[in-house]
This record gives sequence, structure tokens and C-alpha cells, in this order.
Amino acid sequence: MPELEITKIQELVYELRVGDVMKKEVITVTPSTPVSELRGILRDNRISGTPVIEDGCLVGIISIEDFIRWLAEGSPNCAIADWMTRNVITLFQDEPLIQAINKLERFGFGRLPVFARDTKKMIGILTKGDSIVGLLKKLDVDYRQAEMHSVRSKHIFEDIVADRSSLIFEYDVAGGSNVERAGASASGLKTSLMRLGINPQTARRAAIATYEAEMNLMFFANGGLITAIIESNSIWIEMTDDGPGIENVDQAMRPGFSTAPDWVRELGFGAGMGLHNIKTCADRMRLDSTVGVGTRLEIEILVGGKREVIRDHATVTA
Ligand SMILES: Nc1ncnc2c1ncn2[C@@H]1O[C@H](COP(=O)(O)OP(=O)(O)OP(=O)(O)O)[C@@H](O)[C@H]1O
Ligand SMILES: [Mg+2]
Repeated sequence: MPELEITKIQELVYELRVGDVMKKEVITVTPSTPVSELRGILRDNRISGTPVIEDGCLVGIISIEDFIRWLAEGSPNCAIADWMTRNVITLFQDEPLIQAINKLERFGFGRLPVFARDTKKMIGILTKGDSIVGLLKKLDVDYRQAEMHSVRSKHIFEDIVADRSSLIFEYDVAGGSNVERAGASASGLKTSLMRLGINPQTARRAAIATYEAEMNLMFFANGGLITAIIESNSIWIEMTDDGPGIENVDQAMRPGFSTAPDWVRELGFGAGMGLHNIKTCADRMRLDSTVGVGTRLEIEILVGGKREVIRDHATVTA
């Protein structure tokens, strides 16, 4: 028999409790509230349904679907009591999320009120959306923890005996519109940095900067070369091309400035944010360009220690 594979999501829906993911602020209405007021209540609170409470007790649930039925069939002065669902399915806060998801599915309700098992008081409400957000948050937390564990306590340079040492990775970037290859250098660099035991946040910054530069090489310079030099406490990344060059470097650096042609914009690029993003990710940046000769971009990202505030003296020369 094949081994039963449990996915992380499956594991989490058993592990998480309703109380972990429910919304605690519950908007409620009373049975005597006119149905006509419901639209405003739902819209103002950005919800699609709400529990109906009378003398502190849950007596029903009213949703946007009921409101639509009332619009089609009801008379103007109806109260919520006439249109609400009375047999409400509820949850306890200590139930596993899997049970809540099953109930939402089985009964087709959009939301289920949550009660405290001991006090029998309503303490929250759960929608499918809340379940998904809760799962994603937990996945993210677990992912980060796993990531931190996988970072070696020692980084590769500590094992090397030398006064100075560095690793050099080179990536060739082709020009043109073949977006299938887009990001290959950035992702190759990121994978390599992670394998070297470099902090994931640092590796991510290097990857974002490299990705932006890679796209610029591809679209504006008909390709080029990316060289990453990894030293014990910094990552240098140099991108060079012999493309048309940049006429005005200060202008190119400005967020929103772009000369991207239509075909580049149609691919979803050309917001003019690339160089700005690179500056944000880097601890130091230098962009040199000569029209008709080419462009050279160099950045440095410090490894280890706290992220330094982005320095204003990022050198930009034409
Ligand atoms: N290697 C390069 N060679 C020639 N021109 C370049 C090069 N890199 C950038 N540029 C010029 O600088 C401008 C700004 O680049 P930036 O990366 O900030 O924005 P973009 O590429 O136009 O849009 P986005 O990066 O948001 O998709 C580009 O539109 C282009 O004119
Ligand atoms: Mg760009």
C-alpha cells in the first residue's frame, strides 16, 4: 500500500484551533433591526453576514443572500427576524480547524459563530476567508522557523583557512523578450547563497536586486554579465553590458522613470521601479554608464549583523 502522505496544510488544519484563526470583533444585529438597514451595516463593516443577538443570546444569522432574497420578495418594513436563518450551526473555540472547515462545507454557510465551551458566550466568528488567512499565517511562521533551522550555525567562510577568500559566481544574461529565462540568474544566486549558509533575508535582498538588474540587461542592453563575489562579510554584485548606455543616470534612478517600449510594458514591466528597488536592497550602489559604450552597476550587500539603514551616499555617477 502506498504510504499516506500528509501535506503541511493537512497537518495544520488539525493542529490549529478555531480560536486561533477566528475573528474576535463580531458585528451583531438585533432581530428587530429593519432589513433595509442591513446593506449599510454589511458594507460599512466589509462583511457578508452577521449573527443576530437578542438579550445576549444568539437567535439567528443573517447574510447578504437573505438580503438579496428580501430585495426580490420582501416588503419594505420587514425586520431581520423575518429573514434570518434560525437553526444556526456554531463552533467551539477549542475545536480543530478541520471540523470548522467541514461544517462550513457541509452546511454551505459562509460564517459560523464561535462559542466558549465553558461560559457558553459568543466570542468570535469564523469565515472561510479567516481560515485561509489563519493557515497562511501559520505556514509563514513555520516556514520562517524551518528556514532559520536550515541556516547553518557556521557559514562556509569560517571553515576556510586563508587571510582572504572569495567565491565568484557568473551568470550570462541573454537579451530579448524570452521571459521564460527571466529571473534565472537571480534565482540561481539566491539558491547558491542559501546553500552557503547566508542569512535568508540577505540572500533575498541580493536576489531582488539581481532580478531587477537582470531584467534591465535583458530589455535595455541586449544581455550582459552578472558577477557575484561572495566574501566573508559582504556580497558584491556587478552587472555589466555593452548596450546603448543611459543618457541621464540621475533621471534613470528616479522612481517612475522608464523608457521601456510597449513590448516590455505588455510583459508587465516598465514601472520605472527597478533601479530604485536595487538601491533599497543594497547597502551601497554605484551606476556608471556611457552612451554607446555600456553600463556598469555595482552593488554591495553586507552579510551578517543588522541591516544598515540605506545610506544616502549611494554613489551614482554618469
Ligand atoms: N542596462 C541598461 N542599459 C540601458 N538603459 C538602462 C539600463 N538599465 C536601466 N536603463 C534605463 O533606466 C530606466 C529605468 O530603469 P528601471 O529598472 O528603474 O525601470 P524600468 O526597467 O524601466 O521599469 P521596471 O524595472 O519597473 O520594470 C529604464 O527605463 C532604461 O531607460
Ligand atoms: Mg527595470
